[in-house]
This record gives sequence, structure tokens and C-alpha cells, in this order.
Amino acid sequence: MDEELVNRCECVNKTFEQLKVYGTLDEAQEATGCGRECEGCMPYLRLMFASGETAFDLDDPRLSSYQ
Ligand code: FES
Repeated sequence: MDEELVNRCECVNKTFEQLKVYGTLDEAQEATGCGRECEGCMPYLRLMFASGETAFDLDDPRLSSYQ
């Protein structure tokens, strides 16, 4: 079975691909509310805006720098 990738804010049901279009985390949050509910996606959102990637392993080792 493939390991599932983290590729969206589940709470607002927006993919990182869709959120990346806003350019910054602040803009994306303002527009969609992403990252403000359970906040579980926040490290992934920070890593997404830092790296430009839009899908991550659940335990991507870079996440520790983006808590
Ligand atoms: S998954 Fe993004 S706030 Fe819950």
C-alpha cells in the first residue's frame, strides 16, 4: 500500500496546490482560513511555502524546522 501523502488542509478542504497560489501563508489564511481550525496542517503549510512542494510524507524530516 502506498504511504499517504499530506497534500491539503483538511479543515477547509483546499489542496496545497490551491493554497500555494496565494503566494504567502498570511494571504492564504486570510483568503481561505486554512491552518486556523485544527492547526495540524500548519507545519506542512510553512514547509510548502518555504520549499514550493505541494505534497509531503507524513513524517517529512524537514517538518521539525517548521513547527
Ligand atoms: S487541516 Fe488545516 S486547519 Fe485543520
